[in-house]
Amino acid sequence: MIKDGKIWIANNQEGKSVYMLPSMANRHGLIAGATGTGKTVTLKVLAETFSDMGVPVFLADVKGDVAGILNPGIDSEDMQKRIDKFEIRDKGFAYNGYPVTFWDIYGQKGIQLRTTVSEMGPLLLSRILGLNELQRNILGIVFKIADDEKLALIDLKDLKAMLNYVSENNKEYAADYGAMSKVTIGAIQRAVVSLEISGGEKFFGEPALDIRDWFTVSPEGKGMIHVLDSESLIGNGTLYSTFLLWMMSELFEIMPEVGDLDKPKMVFFFDEAHLLFKDTPKPLLEKIEQVVKLIRSKGVGIYFVTQNPRDIPDGVLAQLGNKVQHALRAYTPSDQKAVKAAADSFRENPEFKTFDVIQSLGTGEALVSFLDEGGIPSVVEKVNILPPKSFIGAIDDGTRQRAINSSLLFTKYANAYDPESAYELLERLGIQKEREEALAKEEALQAKENAKKEAALAKERERQEKLEAANKKRVAKSVGNSVAGTVGREVGKQVGKPFGRFGKTLGGNLGASLGRGILSTLFKG
Ligand SMILES: Nc1ncnc2c1ncn2[C@@H]1O[C@H](COP(=O)(O)OP(=O)(O)OP(=O)(O)O)[C@@H](O)[C@H]1O
Ligand SMILES: [Mg+2]
Repeated sequence: MIKDGKIWIANNQEGKSVYMLPSMANRHGLIAGATGTGKTVTLKVLAETFSDMGVPVFLADVKGDVAGILNPGIDSEDMQKRIDKFEIRDKGFAYNGYPVTFWDIYGQKGIQLRTTVSEMGPLLLSRILGLNELQRNILGIVFKIADDEKLALIDLKDLKAMLNYVSENNKEYAADYGAMSKVTIGAIQRAVVSLEISGGEKFFGEPALDIRDWFTVSPEGKGMIHVLDSESLIGNGTLYSTFLLWMMSELFEIMPEVGDLDKPKMVFFFDEAHLLFKDTPKPLLEKIEQVVKLIRSKGVGIYFVTQNPRDIPDGVLAQLGNKVQHALRAYTPSDQKAVKAAADSFRENPEFKTFDVIQSLGTGEALVSFLDEGGIPSVVEKVNILPPKSFIGAIDDGTRQRAINSSLLFTKYANAYDPESAYELLERLGIQKEREEALAKEEALQAKENAKKEAALAKERERQEKLEAANKKRVAKSVGNSVAGTVGREVGKQVGKPFGRFGKTLGGNLGASLGRGILSTLFKG
């Protein structure tokens, strides 16, 4: 609840109000405690107050019980007791539902939430795909080539086409980008296919979420509460946590520096936060740490919700200024260590032993420490958390669907579209290549045909020439025979004349043979 412009979250043992300062809400926070101790209710009390202040909120709903924030709470006996205890009835407490936009990366229990492959980036995508270091490096190069070649990576289809293209042309790219083995690319391709099969393909595409759409208030001036349905998503812990990390880095990129504000621009609650850090490669851990550190100057507060504070790496934990610790049980030495670590993270209160109190807290009770105006953590206090104004528990499908359909963002994100990107461009390139190859083949065939025809024609020409030559020879021979015969015969007759009739005939025949010999030599030459 808002009281004196502050976030009234609990009362201490003397019945005095305990506040979190809105101006310090961007210094992040932690809500920890064993199962069933009141973490989700605390988260709701905080989220409601932020919304009442006009600050938009994001919540991951892992068990479906956050969704109830849409409806006003029910005046049960337990609630009445709590309301009486806090004497809040006359201090503005009223059961209230909140403006909620439901989101779902599977598009079933909320508006379809998408991002693009390139916005996800190779580092986070490698995590979703479960790639090893070598594969992660290769994926990074594939992204670089796509970038250099102006091939947009929107959906998994684009990524598959791109991997295929690089695999086929790996030799050409080796000189500029380094060697990429087909085997490694093949392993990445298989990981992409299995992500596709597990339903991940709906998450990548257009229209991709513009996170600026989350910075909205309702017509009544309440901060919009964005609930990501995570009941199915949590089944794929890596996808869930990587999605949250993507959101953080996306926010980090788009938000301008704003310095200190009197209230945050937006607040994010990450439930089951231990998943964010489980099996996270070092470069990614470093990135998370850096983003958490720097994002507060952009007016964004991040609250991690988890069972045990030890789930959060020290580098991140040290940056969580506002803490709500619900009960922890310590049955084993390892549990005891965890409780000790949690207790040690608070400033001692001389009134009690933190280590002992953590273990004795009842449901809805907590140990808290918030940052004061100077950014100094308060001494730890034992408190009772206020009851929420909204409904504690899940909602039915009909109520959810009505809320989804009536959301202003529903029409913007409901229908997927497939823009021209790597897949389409590479396919076209492939078709063009195929066409060029077919054309070249046809041309080669035609050239071969032409050469064949040419050869046949040349042969025919030669044959004709030979034939002509033979004909000419024959004609010349017969003409020569008769001309020479006649001429020779005449000459012979004249030569043999003095030898009477016999001499004339002999002279004629000899003359004819002689004449034929002379002409045939002439034609041959
Ligand atoms: N501040 C509170 N005001 C009213 N009821 C509360 C409060 N805190 C806890 N409760 C009651 O305790 C129940 C369990 O709390 P909650 O669901 O917040 O636990 P949790 O720590 O989130 O558990 P889990 O780890 O299983 O998610 C609630 O359903 C509610 O009935
Ligand atoms: Mg819970």
